[in-house]
Amino acid sequence: MAKPALLVTRKLPPAIEARAARDYAARLNPQDEPWATDGAEIARRAAEIGAAGVLCAAGDRMDAACIGALPASVKAIATFSVGFDHVDLAAAKARGIAVTNTPEVLTEATAQIALTLLLMACRRAGEGERLVRARQWRGWAPTQLLGLTPEGKRLGILGFGRIGRTLARMARGLGMEIHYRDLRRLPPELEQGAIWHDTDEGFLRASQFLSMHMPGGEATRKWLNAERIALLPRGAIVVNSGRGGSVDDEALIAALRSGHVFAAGLDVYDGEPRIHEGYYALENVVLLPHLGSATVETRDAMGHRALDNLDAILLRGEPPRDRVA
Ligand code: DGY
Repeated sequence: MAKPALLVTRKLPPAIEARAARDYAARLNPQDEPWATDGAEIARRAAEIGAAGVLCAAGDRMDAACIGALPASVKAIATFSVGFDHVDLAAAKARGIAVTNTPEVLTEATAQIALTLLLMACRRAGEGERLVRARQWRGWAPTQLLGLTPEGKRLGILGFGRIGRTLARMARGLGMEIHYRDLRRLPPELEQGAIWHDTDEGFLRASQFLSMHMPGGEATRKWLNAERIALLPRGAIVVNSGRGGSVDDEALIAALRSGHVFAAGLDVYDGEPRIHEGYYALENVVLLPHLGSATVETRDAMGHRALDNLDAILLRGEPPRDRVA
């Protein structure tokens, strides 16, 4: 039997491309050409090969226009990401196309990046690094680059799913008290002593450190706005490793300038890779290029999970493990 055709929109780790090429008539993107940001181009290439599946990634433009233009041969879209806000699920449903993601396998890596940002922000590590690299460091000084200690502070985790709970486990090791905000209270075995807040106000007032783990999309758009930032204790630390759209950049930049927010650590941006110009001039913000899941092991695991889902649908005609639409 002929292998189903698979359009792979981005360059993927070697083991994943090899597996895709073994099991599918795969059209890869070995040079990582940026056509995946153009939905019409994705649809055109899918039609060109008569794709049964599309293996896409975070940031690809799988919007309603793209999905509407996919050829009828497409039965599955597997995204190489846990987030799926770049895929129009309603459009996929309307076309009877299954959509899958890659949960669980990137939990530790993404929580590690949140912790990295938290520590870099509160200990002013970015500023220190820039000082040394600029050859401006004149030696140890008692009052140089003083940060804030996380020990004994309250960490508010917004979104207490797998990643949020894993960050909580790590932050307990730093001696932090864990607070969280989620749609509902979790059972004690998942809370592990974390304190649930049933209002944004109570949660934000408690959060000396705030780490955001929200999905993207209209429902969370600009969630952290000026009004909510004002509820944070003065001198708070803000970390975002979820989706950039959930922060109102103008409001955060104003709070970083005024000192109401002591420092921030960001891995994701509204409209990335474009980043709000205001951040570049600020010393008290750590800017990472969406590194959440970027470890060799994690990216391999994500690729295998995406292919497992495609195999279930396209090779075995079974329900996939991670169907989101
Ligand atoms: C995801 O998987 O959604 C990440 O943001 C990409 O690492």
